[in-house]
Amino acid sequence: MARVFFAIAALLLAAKDVVSFPNYASLAGLSERELDEIIPQLTVRTLEKPPGQMKNTLTKLVNDPAHPWIAPAPDDQRDPCPGLNTLANHGYLPRDGIATPAQIVNAVQEGFNMANDIAVFVTYAAHLVDGNLLTDLLSIGGKSAKTGPNPPSPAIVGGLDTHAVFEGDASTTRGDAFFGDNHSFNESLFDELTAFSNKFGAGFYNLSVATEFRFQRIQDSIATNPQFSLISPRYYTAYAESVFPVAFFVDGRETNGSLNMTVARGFFQDGRMPNDFFRSNISWGLDLIGEGIGFIFTPHPIEPGTNNGTLNSYTLDPNSADFSDFCKLYTDFVNVTVRGLYPNATGPLLNALNQNLDFFFGPLGDQGCTQVPAFV
Ligand code: HEM
Ligand SMILES: *[C@@H]1O[C@H](CO)[C@@H](O)[C@H](O)[C@H]1NC(C)=O
Ligand SMILES: *[C@@H]1O[C@H](CO)[C@@H](O)[C@H](O)[C@H]1NC(C)=O
Ligand SMILES: *[C@@H]1O[C@H](CO)[C@@H](O)[C@H](O)[C@H]1NC(C)=O
Ligand SMILES: *[C@@H]1O[C@H](CO)[C@@H](O)[C@H](O)[C@H]1NC(C)=O
Ligand SMILES: *[C@@H]1O[C@H](CO)[C@@H](O)[C@H](O)[C@H]1NC(C)=O
Ligand SMILES: *[C@@H]1O[C@H](CO)[C@@H](O)[C@H](O)[C@H]1NC(C)=O
Ligand SMILES: *[C@@H]1O[C@H](CO)[C@@H](O)[C@H](O)[C@H]1NC(C)=O
Ligand SMILES: *[C@@H]1O[C@H](CO)[C@@H](O)[C@H](O)[C@H]1NC(C)=O
Ligand SMILES: *[C@@H]1O[C@H](CO)[C@@H](O)[C@H](O)[C@H]1NC(C)=O
Repeated sequence: MARVFFAIAALLLAAKDVVSFPNYASLAGLSERELDEIIPQLTVRTLEKPPGQMKNTLTKLVNDPAHPWIAPAPDDQRDPCPGLNTLANHGYLPRDGIATPAQIVNAVQEGFNMANDIAVFVTYAAHLVDGNLLTDLLSIGGKSAKTGPNPPSPAIVGGLDTHAVFEGDASTTRGDAFFGDNHSFNESLFDELTAFSNKFGAGFYNLSVATEFRFQRIQDSIATNPQFSLISPRYYTAYAESVFPVAFFVDGRETNGSLNMTVARGFFQDGRMPNDFFRSNISWGLDLIGEGIGFIFTPHPIEPGTNNGTLNSYTLDPNSADFSDFCKLYTDFVNVTVRGLYPNATGPLLNALNQNLDFFFGPLGDQGCTQVPAFV
């Protein structure tokens, strides 16, 4: 009797999830049965190739009359990335926060002058783990999603808030997932950032401040989060994201790499460009961001590792990619992270997976990496 009851309850639950399955939600980790039910309901798209580099890569007014800041509506997807939140709030991305990877590449190039190589690399990395490979849609948020009569369970919503594949620990202004909220702007973390900017940057955020704050955020997580994890790919993104404010939030007419903290708050908290904002006057790609990472890493070299379930137990992980081997970041991301999410993909899903893996590898040929063979 109980078994029959649970079987029926499970069917009803499954039916409810299927009915409300959002077209941007990731298909990673779903069983064959779930996929058979969900896929026929999706609008499967022919995948668009990633856009190339822009022609004009100089500074220009980007907070212009065609791109006014408008606060997100309650159902719009936002967080945890202040860069993408800003692009959505200014209409460089669809304001509902659901976009194709090609739209994201175009938006980060146009709005911030992120160079094509890193734009493609980061966007397709995120899409592979958090996006829907068949509809070609990715949510820039995920957890504040859709209320209403049939809210999808957070476990199936996905989007960039999904912990431990792209979103990760020791963020600048967001808490660790362990503390319950991994994506919202946190005022006390921003206050700490301001204090560091006063101490090491004479009131501005610059690479010297980034150096000290990145180290502090890691020390803080080691001391307070028993499940702290700082292994690849998060290892790379944690450092890169400390460089991004210097690269992208500083007005392109300035050359001193100093970010005003009022302007910083606008981006981090409200996803808002200051009035009259000009994008960077140089395209920041893998090489330049890599130099910034080197600047930040060298004075306090922390290698990849994790706490082992207790506080202050940071243990190095020799299996994680580190800054000495960028291609291992790529190879492990494909063979371990993505393969782990899609162990049994077949048919159209397998095709879409391999196409996206091709797009993702695109910028890495120039970095001397060898492409992992397509999944079969
Ligand atoms: C190219 C596509 C991009 C994707 C897919 C992406 C995704 C993400 C994700 C998932 C996070 C959260 C990581 C975490 O802290 O746990 C993040 C953080 C961040 N992103 Fe992006 N991002 C992109 C582009 C940009 C751009 C263009 C900028 C700057 C204009 C930017 C600035 C930042 C910053 C500063 C953080 C750190 C936030 C913090 O730690 O408080 N991102 N991004
Ligand atoms: C993939 O296939 C293996 C072997 O058949 C099975 O054990 C596993 O549960 C499957 N995983 C998923 C996510 O379907
Ligand atoms: C991330 O934060 C959201 C919203 O607070 C929460 O629902 C989700 O469980 C968190 N993820 C993890 C892995 O803790
Ligand atoms: C913000 O972060 C601080 C320090 O990590 C934490 O104590 C606090 O609970 C967080 N606040 C919110 C609202 O999540
Ligand atoms: C950051 O600002 C401080 C204070 O003005 C300055 O001493 C330091 O050299 C700056 N760092 C960089 C990398 O510009
Ligand atoms: C932007 O860079 C170009 C050269 O690459 C230079 O000629 C121009 O003066 C710079 N613009 C500003 C506002 O610094
Ligand atoms: C950087 O340059 C801008 C504009 O030229 C100026 O307003 C700002 O005070 C400068 N910051 C520092 C720390 O020199
Ligand atoms: C920072 O920017 C704000 C807003 O544009 C401005 O009012 C303030 O004077 C600037 N602060 C510094 C130290 O330049
Ligand atoms: C975790 O690390 C701590 C400190 O290094 C050590 O004392 C403890 O035995 C470790 N625990 C486990 C379960 O490995
Ligand atoms: C990645 O996986 C593929 C297919 O399983 C295998 O051929 C390749 O050797 C692996 N690459 C690395 C570097 O582990």
